[in-house]
Amino acid sequence: MLKEANSSIDKKRARASFDRAVATYDEHAALQRMVVDNMVESLEVIRVAPKIILDVGAGTGYCASSLEKLYPRARVVLLDLSPSMLTYASSKDTRWRSHRSYLCGDAESLPIADRSVDFLFSSLTFQWCSDLDGVFSECRRVLKPEGLLIFSSLGPDTLHELREAWSAVDLSPHVNQFIDMHDVGDAMIRAGFASPILECERTILKYGDVFGVMEDLRGIGAVNALRERRRGLFTPSKIKQMSEHYEKRRQNDKLPATYEVVYGHAWCPSRDDRAQDGSTVATFPLKEIKRRE
Ligand SMILES: C[S@@+](CC[C@H](N)C(=O)[O-])C[C@H]1O[C@@H](n2cnc3c(N)ncnc32)[C@H](O)[C@@H]1O
Repeated sequence: MLKEANSSIDKKRARASFDRAVATYDEHAALQRMVVDNMVESLEVIRVAPKIILDVGAGTGYCASSLEKLYPRARVVLLDLSPSMLTYASSKDTRWRSHRSYLCGDAESLPIADRSVDFLFSSLTFQWCSDLDGVFSECRRVLKPEGLLIFSSLGPDTLHELREAWSAVDLSPHVNQFIDMHDVGDAMIRAGFASPILECERTILKYGDVFGVMEDLRGIGAVNALRERRRGLFTPSKIKQMSEHYEKRRQNDKLPATYEVVYGHAWCPSRDDRAQDGSTVATFPLKEIKRRE
């Protein structure tokens, strides 16, 4: 089960790292903003008027600001594991009348009442959770009947270049594990989302050297948070070895770093019954999201 497959995130370390990254996050988060923009654009075709939106893993507040432009009447609840992210997001919201609330909490155990949210948004956060079944069952619990869940996460091809370069150096895991889109869809069905829609998109960022890749990751707080990671600092010779392996991928004077972004959405069933076993997961472009009649 997924709990086993991805049970390896050290949450204390992840939280501390996101806390530390507050000041550098926005500078290094071009990909993260692009993903949010794609998600928000896909929402423009859906006619909904949510009263309560929950943004899970709200970070520095970019998603909340985008959602507020689209739904100016909605109350947006920004939830994050990192208290510093929330403090920072709130310091940037200087409006006199703000419809926002801030909640420090964990996506795997949402501090929110059952059936209280019209729309749950989450960008690039679920991959930081150990128990994806738990996450989707929490999403389902807090959403009202016919509420909308829309999220993005990362698939297994993400940072495969860095993972492979490190694997040539030693056997310890250096890059977080990411779950396949089909397994994500299965977890959604188990949680009771009837017809989840998933799409996967590869983006390849180009860097001058491997240190640029690592600097961006550190800048957004995305450190190796695997429980079974190797502790302690790396010797310069190991880093050099890893860099030499990564260098074999150099093309047109640049090094690639792949991000496999998984986009998903689903409506909560109007009745509170769970999906039957054997449901299938549809796969088609994010642009084609439509409100089911
Ligand atoms: C990559 S950032 C994405 C932030 C924002 N959604 C964006 O797109 O810019 C991931 C965020 O998820 C938060 N996070 C990580 N694990 C979490 C968890 N289990 N529950 C809630 N938030 C979590 C981190 O603190 C961080 O702010």
